[in-house]
Amino acid sequence: MNMIIIGFGNVGQSLAEMLELRAPELRERYGLKVNVVAIVDRGGAALSEAGISLSEAVKAKRFRGSVSTMRGLGRPQLSALEVLEEVDGDIVIEVTSTSLETGEPGLTHIKKAISSKKHVVTTSKGALAQMLPDLIELANKNDVSLMFSGAVGGAMPILDFAKMCLRGEKVESLRGVLNGTTNYILWRMAERRIGLSQAVREAQELGYAEENVSYDLNGLDTACKLVILANWVINRRVSLKDVETRGIEELSLEEVLKAKEEGFAVRLIGSIKENLRVRPERVSLRDPLCVDSSLNAVVFTCRYSGQHVLIGRGAGGKETASAVIRDVLTIAQGFGWASSPKDVLNVNPKSVWATP
Ligand SMILES: NC(=O)c1ccc[n+]([C@@H]2O[C@H](COP(=O)([O-])OP(=O)(O)OC[C@H]3O[C@@H](n4cnc5c(N)ncnc54)[C@H](OP(=O)(O)O)[C@@H]3O)[C@@H](O)[C@H]2O)c1
Repeated sequence: MNMIIIGFGNVGQSLAEMLELRAPELRERYGLKVNVVAIVDRGGAALSEAGISLSEAVKAKRFRGSVSTMRGLGRPQLSALEVLEEVDGDIVIEVTSTSLETGEPGLTHIKKAISSKKHVVTTSKGALAQMLPDLIELANKNDVSLMFSGAVGGAMPILDFAKMCLRGEKVESLRGVLNGTTNYILWRMAERRIGLSQAVREAQELGYAEENVSYDLNGLDTACKLVILANWVINRRVSLKDVETRGIEELSLEEVLKAKEEGFAVRLIGSIKENLRVRPERVSLRDPLCVDSSLNAVVFTCRYSGQHVLIGRGAGGKETASAVIRDVLTIAQGFGWASSPKDVLNVNPKSVWATP
């Protein structure tokens, strides 16, 4: 399977490292051989039909700033769109930094890749929050897959769980802590009795928060994830303007400590019921959404089977890259580049229901 990686930051480099580390396992267990034929960042691209050494690509990026500095393979200034025109890849991994307001540059890359009949795996929340129904329609029209399980919840299979494990159910509502950065900040404010700006600084030092944390603090990141969930899981054709969004920028230490004294924690909750809403809420200490540190949590309320809770690590380069690999495998298995592992019990549904 020939792969093009667009975006070579935290997630892109973690993916490269993981693909190299896990190559023997992917080959032996699933029969999958990934050949990365192009990698693109803002400085340009590295191209090789024979396959790029992923450890060399990571070295070039870390020490010289761009994959386009790779000797013999580098093409400075070559853009992602030019690569998509020029390079024959089976699957495109779109992991560029995303503008939550416009969905760019991911939106343009994804549309171009799909239109040139390439499968796409992306974590670009902005692009999906802006145009998910249209992108799915475009992928269907071009007979390719579009998968994005790392876009909501990082490594946590929130979207896969809702789509696969809850099939046949009706998800009537959901509530979730969908932003690990704000969760860390709120948890830290209460635990250490520190103000918002000090907790933000700590989150940045620990690498939980990006330099620009405004999307986390103003609730827009959570709102984007709600839009993706609402479209994908609950079949509501909604966009960002349908989400009533309030972040935690105005929250004072006094409010957080008062809640704690009264037996509650404050968490930034995204919810889908009649309306889509993001806002800081008081939750009881026994609420499954009262998770610590940078964890994410989601409660699905289903018509027939009641509540299901998922808790896990919602972000991080490695965690998100593992979700990308999950999607790549699903596509590879669906289109014949990989098989199901032999150590998994393949139950034939007919044999389960047949009488002896
Ligand atoms: N990190 C996480 O935990 C996480 C979790 C879930 C989802 N996501 C999403 O995953 C995506 C990637 O995240 P990240 O943490 O890897 O971001 P990042 O570290 O900021 O890396 C972004 C990469 O995109 C490249 N890029 C930006 N614009 C480009 C363009 N026009 N053409 C080619 N490359 C371009 C950047 O190039 P340069 O290196 O040259 O600047 C950089 O390599 C984002 O959309 C993010 O929201 C991240």
